[in-house]
Amino acid sequence: KVLILDFGSQYTQLIARRIRELNVYSEIVPYNKVPALDDTIKAVILSGSPFSVREERALHPDLAPLIGQRPVLGICYGAQYVAQHFGGTVARSDSREYGKAHLDKIYRSEGLLAGMAPGSQVWMSHGDTIKEIPDQFELLASTADVEVAAYGSKPGAFGAPVYCIQFHPEVYHSLEGKQLLHNFVIDIAGCSGSWTPAHFVEETVASLREQVGEDRVLLGLSGGVDSSVAAMLLHQAIGDRLFCFFIDNGLLRHNEFNEVLVSYAGMGLNVTGIDARQEFYSALAGLTDPEAKRKAIGKTFIDVFDREARQLTNIKYLAQGTIYPDVIESVSVHGPSVTIKSHHNVGGLPAKMGLKIVEPLRFLFKDEVRRVGTELGMPDRLIKRHPFPGPGLAIRILGDITPEKVALLQKADAIYIDKLREAGLYDQVWQAGTILLPVQSVGVMGDERTYEQAVALRAVTSTDGMTAEWSHLPYDFLASVSSSIINNVKGINRVVYDISTKPPATIEWE
Ligand code: XMP
Repeated sequence: KVLILDFGSQYTQLIARRIRELNVYSEIVPYNKVPALDDTIKAVILSGSPFSVREERALHPDLAPLIGQRPVLGICYGAQYVAQHFGGTVARSDSREYGKAHLDKIYRSEGLLAGMAPGSQVWMSHGDTIKEIPDQFELLASTADVEVAAYGSKPGAFGAPVYCIQFHPEVYHSLEGKQLLHNFVIDIAGCSGSWTPAHFVEETVASLREQVGEDRVLLGLSGGVDSSVAAMLLHQAIGDRLFCFFIDNGLLRHNEFNEVLVSYAGMGLNVTGIDARQEFYSALAGLTDPEAKRKAIGKTFIDVFDREARQLTNIKYLAQGTIYPDVIESVSVHGPSVTIKSHHNVGGLPAKMGLKIVEPLRFLFKDEVRRVGTELGMPDRLIKRHPFPGPGLAIRILGDITPEKVALLQKADAIYIDKLREAGLYDQVWQAGTILLPVQSVGVMGDERTYEQAVALRAVTSTDGMTAEWSHLPYDFLASVSSSIINNVKGINRVVYDISTKPPATIEWE
């Protein structure tokens, strides 16, 4: 595997992804928590950073145990840090260099830059620049504005080579970035490129068997991709010693509880469906504040889960579908961030139940989870499902929750989602949903005046939900959804489309 030392750059996760696209496993660690090198670690990458190496609060990794031991690639801050560490000079550049540039001069088209032609487009984003490279190094490439765009250790200067680049190969605008990473990871570091979904399944099933032994495991399914793939992996590993719960909190989509239960049974999972709708509605009664709703739902979930789990004997582990972006202990540059929304729905569960945790997807990105799901033979309809929030429709009904409002929203939402599928738009959208607004407005139906509620349609494109763009759905499509909802859902006489991006809006309305 490749170890990526994180200095807090916004691109660190992207480096890990690009390397995994080469079928090589990569792992991010904070710059000051580097594990001892063992046989599995074939190369080390130093990421970029929002800091400057010239600042007092600059981050100082300990390079001594790494240099010469494994091939090292420093990117941006990483490159500047290496320069400074070995006695080169780093200075503020006259202008901040940001955007596309070209490697006009390539002095060595071998090693790191093998196969790259002069003029290759790269992406720059830095405020400092390397003025002089240290003695043990030589210049590899320059752009018009940045003389030291790439440099590397002279042959034999250290044991393993050290390469440094000022640009970002992980960003798509670096057109040959993938070639460069391939050169480093496969050709220079000798990684085998065998980390495929099939390989992941095989390794994970074996390690789950070892971890769990003869014990029993309990898992809460949500109907989403992550918990379902986690369940399938465990099922392969330990068969019927995996027990699954699927709780109907009364906040799922129309018919979702039954449909999903059937598809889980079809996959051979041992699932108990639990109808806890009334309990959730009681806990939510009268609550209007979004965070208060989330808390009430999280607490009720834990109570129901815990109570049902007591019916089972000898459970030792609780399995969760946690994925890599939830886990990465990134170097936080701005200190603890303010809570915008508390997404971690059931964080308190394991402690309360006194169970050990097993998280088979802890190191996967979402797209990798989907590939593993396909490898396991799971149906496309499940794998390609849009993300759906834990608190479900409760955060799409603005204001207080009643079973009547849930039923109203479910009807409108089902029309919208079915039409997205029919029109072939479902897979182009990252997430879609319907929001019930606490607004009544006047309309006219036949000769009657109506005074009914409004719904908003939301559809976004995104890669990870951190940022999102509203989907430019065709007007004809929106027209047909609108008339279908207004004509078929009694109680709704107005439909609007949400055209806000995140940021500054968020995907959900609460
Ligand atoms: P926002 O609204 O923060 O949503 O832009 C980003 C993504 O997170 C989902 N989301 C949640 N998921 N519990 C969840 O499990 C929550 O409380 C929660 N709130 C938002 C949202 O659906 C979107 O995919």
